[in-house]
Amino acid sequence: MAKRLGIALVFLALVVGAAAWLLTTPATIAASALPERTPDLANGKVAFDAGGCASCHATPGQEDRTRLGGGLAMTSPFGTFNVPNISPDPATGIGKWSEAEFVTAVMRGTAPDGAHLYPAFPYPSYAKAKVEDVRDLFAYIKTLPAVSNAAPAHELPFPFSIRRGVGLWKLLFFDPKPFTPDPAQSAQWNRGAYLVNGLGHCAECHSPRNALGGIVDAQRFAGGPDPEGKGWVANITQKGLGDWSEKDIAYFLETGMTPEGDSAGGSMARVIRNTSQLSTQDRDAMAVYLKSLPPVDGPARPARK
Ligand code: HEC
Ligand code: HEC
Repeated sequence: MAKRLGIALVFLALVVGAAAWLLTTPATIAASALPERTPDLANGKVAFDAGGCASCHATPGQEDRTRLGGGLAMTSPFGTFNVPNISPDPATGIGKWSEAEFVTAVMRGTAPDGAHLYPAFPYPSYAKAKVEDVRDLFAYIKTLPAVSNAAPAHELPFPFSIRRGVGLWKLLFFDPKPFTPDPAQSAQWNRGAYLVNGLGHCAECHSPRNALGGIVDAQRFAGGPDPEGKGWVANITQKGLGDWSEKDIAYFLETGMTPEGDSAGGSMARVIRNTSQLSTQDRDAMAVYLKSLPPVDGPARPARK
């Protein structure tokens, strides 16, 4: 009897284990899903600037935003991520990657070797981008300088060091459904919603997160502690930006100047280096969308010591 129970328990453990393994299988986008087309490099640059790839991937301590040699040490509650090289260097960057491998990494968070990527790389937002925009982005990155620099491994304590565990995180928090335009809204609003929620990944910093690092949906855009550890990220719903006009928001995204005459600090300063490169139309569209976000209370900001 005990032996049979033992066998049943082992069997059950195997079934549960196999189910968990299957459920956490990294998703990919096949090359066959990407029909031949001529890339639009100008659009690829827009995707690069909207996506802020340089904020994390440009090698720190040099001015050139197009040298994507990696090496930035990003702190987080889960440990330190050393941002990889995504320049076209074949040995230390992504020079050998196929287009499908790149699209899979950016839109599904899966590396070419089939491992899950950590969501410190904001692919949960990039998954909302149009495949064509990400394909153009790949073509654009291919035109940038190849930088030889092997970024060190991440410094993550167990259990965060286990990439397979990211599969469980994805089950809970990763929704690869593409962005769908709202036909009741203007084309400008939809462009803004697309940029803010997709490539712009504004919610990744501007939302509080739960203990597992998932965005608290009910407080999306309502601000919270900086995920990189230092400082506070502003509430950009109308609770925080009620006094800002669309013009004020667009001007801020261009110059980093607030209506009070302060300049953007912390990680937002890096974001402005990217949004300042976008077209006036794209910044205006983001402003129109942000102005439409209903006021939402964010977590209480601790008193400054
Ligand atoms: C907030 C910081 C951040 C931003 C912004 C960011 N990345 Fe990353 N990216 C990372 C981190 C951290 C990793 C490492 C993830 C891992 O090892 O699991 C990464 C990994 C990658 C990888 C996989 C590289 C490899 O060797 O496995 C690619 C490709 C990539 N990013 C492309 C991009 C592109 C394209 C953009 C802009 C659209 C971008 N990233 C924006 C932080 C960022
Ligand atoms: C890497 C994290 C990060 C990302 C990504 C980010 N922000 Fe910010 N943002 C911040 C921080 C931090 C502040 C507060 C800056 C300060 O205190 O000077 C801020 C401030 C702002 C403000 C000013 C709010 C105020 O009341 O002063 C606006 C508007 C804003 N961000 C819009 C955006 C938009 C739009 C996007 C997407 C294109 C975005 N942010 C993406 C971190 C981020």
